[in-house]
Amino acid sequence: MNLENKVILLTGASSGIGRNLAVQLAEKNCSLALVARREELLNNLKKEIAGKVSGVEIYVCDVTDKDKVNTVVQDVINKFGRVDVAILNAGVGVKSGINDFDTEKAKEVFETNVIGIINFINALLPDLLKRKAGIIAGVSSLADARGFPGSGFYCASKAAATIFLESLRVELKSYNIKVITVKPGYVRTPMTDKNKFPMPFIINADKAAKIIIKGIEKEKRIIQFPLPTVLITKLLQILPDPLFDFIMQKEPPGKKK
Ligand SMILES: NC(=O)c1ccc[n+]([C@@H]2O[C@H](COP(=O)([O-])OP(=O)(O)OC[C@H]3O[C@@H](n4cnc5c(N)ncnc54)[C@H](OP(=O)(O)O)[C@@H]3O)[C@@H](O)[C@H]2O)c1
Repeated sequence: MNLENKVILLTGASSGIGRNLAVQLAEKNCSLALVARREELLNNLKKEIAGKVSGVEIYVCDVTDKDKVNTVVQDVINKFGRVDVAILNAGVGVKSGINDFDTEKAKEVFETNVIGIINFINALLPDLLKRKAGIIAGVSSLADARGFPGSGFYCASKAAATIFLESLRVELKSYNIKVITVKPGYVRTPMTDKNKFPMPFIINADKAAKIIIKGIEKEKRIIQFPLPTVLITKLLQILPDPLFDFIMQKEPPGKKK
């Protein structure tokens, strides 16, 4: 899809990958509806890109709040007429090893990373189905591959997001609505800045945004990167359980060096 003159709704626009996506999408002469909770960051971003885009509006919204999400989507449609591309990128990552175990953290992770995506799709679907057009790009992660120790809540939430998006992709194909699953490896952002463990093949958020935009333009089913991490996670997926357990116990990703 040529993104010129398209209306793009982007969640998690205030920081990291989302912020970089917004800055680069602004160069495409599209209209942007930017969603996040931190208003000041959204306002700064709006000021930065206002001269470049054909239209930009910010929407302060917690993706876990279904009523607010419904209102935001209606406001975006009222303002811009439609949503051509929804990039559902908002997400949280928390440590969830046995020393950090907490049901509230699990709720936050699942409600943001899974229900947050579902809330937006729920609000967007009637209009997309009516128009039989559009792209939904949900941001999952290569962490969906297996249950990495210390990151159980995050991995499980991303696995749920990936499986949900896959099912939606097949279902919406006959309505000419494309569903794309974005699966980054490690990307340097405020989310990963707090990690104390090694993050192999980490790339910067600017590069990640470039890859994601190119993948959306090509309407790829899965946008996954970087290649070495993709290959390693594919290998880990087919690894027999005893071998996976052995490797992970020897070098758990959450282990402090
Ligand atoms: N960085 C990586 O290595 C990596 C790897 C794979 C996948 N990902 C995924 O990529 C996406 C972006 O992550 P990032 O690395 O760019 O992290 P980030 O810099 O922490 O950005 C996360 C974004 O999500 C928004 N957000 C979080 N909770 C929200 C909520 N309840 N309601 C609305 N917005 C919310 C934040 O905005 P506010 O706080 O202003 O609301 C922020 O804009 C996430 O889905 C993440 O899981 C990241």
